[in-house]
Amino acid sequence: MSAKPLLSCQHLNAWYGAAQVVFDISLQIAPGEVVALTGSNGAGKSSTLKALMGLMPKRSGLMTFAGLDISNAQPYQAAQLGLGYVPEDRRIFTDLTVLENLQVGMQAQRQKDRAKTWTLDTVFSLFPALREMQHRASAHMSGGEQQMLSIARTLMGNPKLLLLDEPSEGVAPVVAELLAQAILTMKAQGVSVLLSEQNLAFTRLVCDRTYTLAKGQLV
Ligand SMILES: Nc1ncnc2c1ncn2[C@@H]1O[C@H](COP(=O)(O)OP(=O)(O)OP(=O)(O)O)[C@@H](O)[C@H]1O
Ligand SMILES: [Mg+2]
Repeated sequence: MSAKPLLSCQHLNAWYGAAQVVFDISLQIAPGEVVALTGSNGAGKSSTLKALMGLMPKRSGLMTFAGLDISNAQPYQAAQLGLGYVPEDRRIFTDLTVLENLQVGMQAQRQKDRAKTWTLDTVFSLFPALREMQHRASAHMSGGEQQMLSIARTLMGNPKLLLLDEPSEGVAPVVAELLAQAILTMKAQGVSVLLSEQNLAFTRLVCDRTYTLAKGQLV
């Protein structure tokens, strides 16, 4: 990787209480790259993404994002700098409509200098199904629709890098294909992605490089 990294992490460790689950992970993502984090159940993929975002109860290590030290940043500060996070369980606000969920996502964009690539119009072009259902309550969406909404909501904050936790998990193959296409479109629009996946067919479709985890360590 020749370009200056967008995200760099060195010697990342993370714990749930007394239990360490992420061990000495160092990785880099260049601007424009789509990188996979693979590994089996419990390997530590989600914990690593959470640690990068500042969502683990305890972490250590040196992390920089867009040239700034985020080693001790709170999740909201990371979000404001342009780090987007799409959790494994999607965290849709089920009391809100699809449109209202997207409006919540806009709040992440506080920095004036950031690109305004993603608007309601462009996320609806990315996921036309969401335009159709924008005024519906999001409580009764399918897993695939929720995944699209969760990604779209995070995009509304115009992140520079998206941390995407198992996008293809529990969605129909046709939706997984649509999500893969969407990731390639985001990449073409300049969004970098670090995506956790167990589905290697999916990562082969979209990723430039792969890191593999076992028992919380890179292998
Ligand atoms: N909230 C939690 N409290 C305590 N331990 C946890 C918690 N969440 C996960 N763990 C443990 O941390 C380790 C790493 O789990 P993690 O969820 O990061 O793995 P993963 O690679 O994302 O797995 P999966 O593919 O099932 O999503 C596992 O041993 C898991 O049991
Ligand atoms: Mg996980």
